Amino acid sequence: AVTRTFSIIKPDATRRNQTGAVTKMLEEAGLRVVASKRIQLSKEQAEGFYAVHKDRPFYGELCNFMTSGPVVVQVLEGEDAVKRNRDIMGATNPADAAPGTIRKELAESIEANSVHGSDSEENAATEIAFFFNDDEIVG
Ligand code: CMP
Repeated sequence: AVTRTFSIIKPDATRRNQTGAVTKMLEEAGLRVVASKRIQLSKEQAEGFYAVHKDRPFYGELCNFMTSGPVVVQVLEGEDAVKRNRDIMGATNPADAAPGTIRKELAESIEANSVHGSDSEENAATEIAFFFNDDEIVG
């Protein structure tokens, strides 16, 4: 089925001017960008978005990193979008990611790993609603 997922192009990628390179890989993987905006996350937004990780040792650093520069938040649409996006992103740690994936080809480290993608359809819906109103998504 055609579904939606949520993506973030992280500060390491925007800093290196790779918004287009990341988006091209998403599109070539069969995903369509149906919403997109470049924003500076506030500390509160980063902490709220990653609240699920608040007891993890990397939470503080992660929130600092995610507010260290602009991000591009996107809604992606396509056949089985959550899985399709996770496949093209590659493993969380670029060192473990398969060749041809965004993280293998473009990312710097497990923290500066260039992209976030929803891990389930349920989380995709929550994450999309965190950043977008319905009228900002044009399929
Ligand atoms: P993301 O998919 O955005 O979800 C949580 C993020 O935490 C993850 O990508 C990484 O960028 C970051 N992170 C930093 N350190 C770790 C770690 N040791 N294990 C998992 N995620 C980490």
